[in-house]
Formats: sequence, structure tokens, C-alpha cells
Amino acid sequence: MPLRIAIDGPAGVGKSTLAARLATAFGLPKLDTGAIYRTLALAAERAGVSWDDGPALAELAAHLPIRFAGGTGRAGTTVLLGNEDVSAAIRTPEMSRGSSLVSRHAPVRAALLPLQRALAAGGAVAEGRDIGTVVLPDAEVKIFLVASPRERARRRRLELREKGLERALEDVLAEQDARDERDSTREASPLRAAADAITIDTDGLTLEEVVQRVLALVAERTGLRPR
Ligand code: DC
Repeated sequence: MPLRIAIDGPAGVGKSTLAARLATAFGLPKLDTGAIYRTLALAAERAGVSWDDGPALAELAAHLPIRFAGGTGRAGTTVLLGNEDVSAAIRTPEMSRGSSLVSRHAPVRAALLPLQRALAAGGAVAEGRDIGTVVLPDAEVKIFLVASPRERARRRRLELREKGLERALEDVLAEQDARDERDSTREASPLRAAADAITIDTDGLTLEEVVQRVLALVAERTGLRPR
């Protein structure tokens, strides 16, 4: 039975970092589903398709030539659109907003579901907003990460700074609030903890402490330990 770990939570809560650590620990691919919505937002912008046009976006999503390279456990997974490396282009504040806008359309979500399930079929650490509720409802382990908005904005700002993007904390916080509000109030699979998810509040916890908690949970649920 392949191991599937679902990690959901709001923007900037540390899903990717945790997913990368777990993927490395278990030798599983890390599936960043947010990267798929980000790539769709980028492809739409280039094709002149509005982020408000659900049907046209769904059509684009159904044929999205997206691939992940260097996928196993590395934090810096490469995302390819056709043959182009778009890993950096999809991580801008504009594409954070665009991905949140394109992801609210139900037909878009439906079009991207088979791709996500296929990518996780052999086992994966998958992160996003609806992994435990919709994409992998029978995942062996489901984690829902939470942290205070200000702490998440502070982390996001540091991430942006590392990429040479200097932003005021209040701006990052305002954009994050808008995105959280949209992601958690939309009708189509909103951000929500699955009934059987374990919620971890990461405020005041180190990454190492969070990793150890999840490893203990995986061992308890499945008997599996890091290799
Ligand atoms: O995880 P992220 O910040 O890269 O995701 C970007 C956007 O994509 C997020 O604001 C909402 C959307 N998303 C989603 O609706 N469902 C997912 N499983 C993952 C992301």
C-alpha cells in the first residue's frame, strides 16, 4: 500500500517545507498542488484568458502541459510548462493572487483532479488546500497546519526577501488575508480541515518539532518509519 500524506493549510503556514522534509524521510515524491494552480494562472495570462473566465480556464487546465522534474523530496522542485522552467515565474505575488483566483472555479478544480491523483498514485506527500478533503480523501495521514496570520506573513516576507523581493509586512499581510478569505469562503472545495485530519498549530514550534510530531503520527497510523 503506497503511503500518502496530505498536508493542507492556509498561505505561508509552512506546508512546502514540511512536505519536503517528509518526502525526503520516506523517499516519496512531494506534490505541490499550489504549483499547478499557479502554472495555470501563468498560462492563462500568456494566452490572454481572464482569471475570471471559468469555462475557458477549465479548457486550458484540461490540456495544461505541466510537468514536475527532480520531484523526489527536494524543496526546489522544478515546474515545467511545456519545456520552459517556470519555477520562479509562478512564485511572484501576482501569481499568488492569480492562482487563488483561477482556483475558485469548480470546472477548473474538476479538470485538475485527475492529474493530481495520478501524480500521487504511487505514494506522495501532497500539499495544498483540499488534499485531505477532496484530492486524497483516503490518505493514510492528514495534517492541517495553522499559524497566526502575522507569523505566516513574517515567514512569507522572509521567503520573498531571499528572492530579492523587498515587501512591507503590512502589504504581505493584506495580500495574504485577501487570499485566505477567498480560498476558505469559495464554494468549490474551500480550505477546510478534513474530519480525520490532525491540526498542528506551528506558532512557537520549530520545523524540527513539527516534523517529529508528524513522524510519530505516521508511525502510529501505519507502522512506517523514515528509511
Ligand atoms: O499553496 P500555494 O500558496 O502555492 O497555492 C496557490 C493558490 O492555489 C492558493 O491561494 C489557492 C490555490 N490552491 C487550491 O485552491 N487548492 C490546492 N490544493 C492548492 C492551491
